[in-house]
Amino acid sequence: MERTAVYPGSFDPVTNGHLDIIQRGLKIFDRIIVTILENPGKETLFTVEERTGLLNESLKTVENTEVDSYGGLLVDYAHQRGAHAILRGMRAVSDFEYEFQMALMNRRLNREIQTVFLMTGLRWIFTSSSIIKEAAKFGGDIESMVPPVVQRTLQEKFRK
Ligand code: PNS
Repeated sequence: MERTAVYPGSFDPVTNGHLDIIQRGLKIFDRIIVTILENPGKETLFTVEERTGLLNESLKTVENTEVDSYGGLLVDYAHQRGAHAILRGMRAVSDFEYEFQMALMNRRLNREIQTVFLMTGLRWIFTSSSIIKEAAKFGGDIESMVPPVVQRTLQEKFRK
C-alpha cells in the first residue's frame, strides 16, 4: 500500500523550513500532497493561486509531491485523497500547544488519520513565513530562508 501524507499549511509563502520538512517527510512517506488550507485565524499576503504557483515552482524538481488547495476540514480532505497521515513540522516550544490542540481535534474528527510531527531542522528553528514577510517588507535580506522564486516575488510585492 502506498503511504501518502498530506502536508497542510497556509504557505504564505513557502519557506526553506517547509521544504526541509517535505524532503525529510519523503524518507517516511511514498508521496506527499502539499495542501494549502484556510487558517481562519490568519490573513494572508498571497492569494491561494499565488501560493500554489510559488509551491509548484519550489517543488518542481522534487519527485513524489503534489500541490493542491482545499477549503474545508483537513481530515475530510485527507480521507478523500486516501492519505492516512497528516505531516506537520514542529519548531520551538511555542508551536507545541497549538499543534497539540490541532492534532487532538483532528484525531477526534477522524481516528483513522494519524498526525506525524517532524522536528524542524536547527537551521530553520526561528524561521516562519510571518517573520520572513516582516523582514522582506522592510528590505531585509531573506535570501537564505526562502526559495529564489519566493524571494523575487516578495521583493516585487513590497516594491509596489
Ligand atoms: O501553516 P498554518 O497556518 O499553521 O496551518 C494551519 C492549518 C491550515 C493546517 C489549519 O488551520 C487547518 O487545518 N485548517 C483547515 C481547517 C481544519 O481542518 N482545522 C482543523 C481543526 S483544528
